[in-house]
Amino acid sequence: MQSDLFTEGARKFVDLEERFGVFNYHPLPVVLAQGSGVYVWDVDGKKYLDFLSAYSAVNQGHAHPVILQALQSQAASLSLTSRAFHNNKLGPYLEFMANTFGFDRVLPMNTGVEASESAVKLARKWGYEVKGVSENNARIIFAAGNFWGRSIAAISSSTDENSRNGFGPFVPGFDLIPYNDLHQLEEVCKNPDVVAFMVEPIQGEAGVIVPDPGYLKGVREICSRYNVLFIADEVQTGLGRTGAMTCCEHENVKPDLLVLGKALGGGVYPVSAVLGRDDVMKTLKPGQHGSTFGGNPLACAVGMASLKVIIDEQLCENARAMGELFRADLKKIKSPLIKDVRGMGLLNAMEILPYGSGKTAWDICVSMLQHGLLAKQTHRNIIRFAPPLIINKEQIEQATEIIKKVISEEEMGL
Ligand SMILES: Cc1ncc(COP(=O)(O)O)c(C=O)c1O
Repeated sequence: MQSDLFTEGARKFVDLEERFGVFNYHPLPVVLAQGSGVYVWDVDGKKYLDFLSAYSAVNQGHAHPVILQALQSQAASLSLTSRAFHNNKLGPYLEFMANTFGFDRVLPMNTGVEASESAVKLARKWGYEVKGVSENNARIIFAAGNFWGRSIAAISSSTDENSRNGFGPFVPGFDLIPYNDLHQLEEVCKNPDVVAFMVEPIQGEAGVIVPDPGYLKGVREICSRYNVLFIADEVQTGLGRTGAMTCCEHENVKPDLLVLGKALGGGVYPVSAVLGRDDVMKTLKPGQHGSTFGGNPLACAVGMASLKVIIDEQLCENARAMGELFRADLKKIKSPLIKDVRGMGLLNAMEILPYGSGKTAWDICVSMLQHGLLAKQTHRNIIRFAPPLIINKEQIEQATEIIKKVISEEEMGL
């Protein structure tokens, strides 16, 4: 069925993926070949508004000239050194990151899952060496619905059966509580073996689940009261996505560990990091953690340029303004198909009720694609809308028109 949607030109690329790849994704039927700003083009030259931004990794827009310049010039001078030697980009980058976010130290990694796992390791080490938890007894709390990747540790804390089934046994020492539940958090933090609570300020993959106002403040207070580290996984919500440099800033809250990734690589290179205080970060000694690529000169140059673009182009402010406009426009669409519209900044979602004979958000995404807008459903019924933060009013309106048209066409087919 899906194959019918490909042109001949696109089909040959999909055939190669299907013949030589692994079926661990179910992409929408489009084969992309180019990107610039908020737009991408497929192999047949058709133009689309990108309303996924590579799951928020392209906050600065595709092929941003400042980021490309940093990437190209650094690659031409020195790209990889490993941490076996010092390099002249790492120090300035760490200083810039630490000062921008107000933390003592920065641990550079590559992908979000690695940075999140690094935070988990840091929390355990801090638990044993600083909090005084006895060996191998540290516990880390996660919220149901969390997503921080699909490594064995990440799925060990997951409530998503599809990502867990068939991959056990799982990592011990992880506990789950409901998201947005401060009472449960306080109860589990009473256990002196609990060293950290790792949480997304808005749960992205779970379907853009926005907690009640005051939740992050409450998390901060409880974690401080019980000497438990508050780890904010801002891999998706950070770097301007929700209308502030970090989502925690909306509640004037500072976590003990901040995890960043995705847009730190400016859409061109994997760059992630954990930021934290001296007493946590200094527990790591040589040989206890690392990565061949983490903190290499190319990653540092790209990370610095990516962050500077967000600051210089005031992308947080733009995300806030465009997000408000977008949600207001989406909320004006009255349809029996729409259950909810929610979000913050430019991390938004539309929840779709089941319709027709077994139709889901997937069908709406396919139809939007045909009309020139790319967005992807998460779970069966939620469409995430997360365009690059450089988007302007006209492009938001153009997107809203497409969404409105598709919803009304789907409604007519009921
Ligand atoms: C909140 C959060 N943390 C961590 C990750 C993992 O990042 P990566 O896919 O770069 O490993 C993701 C990915 O979607 C995420 O949304």
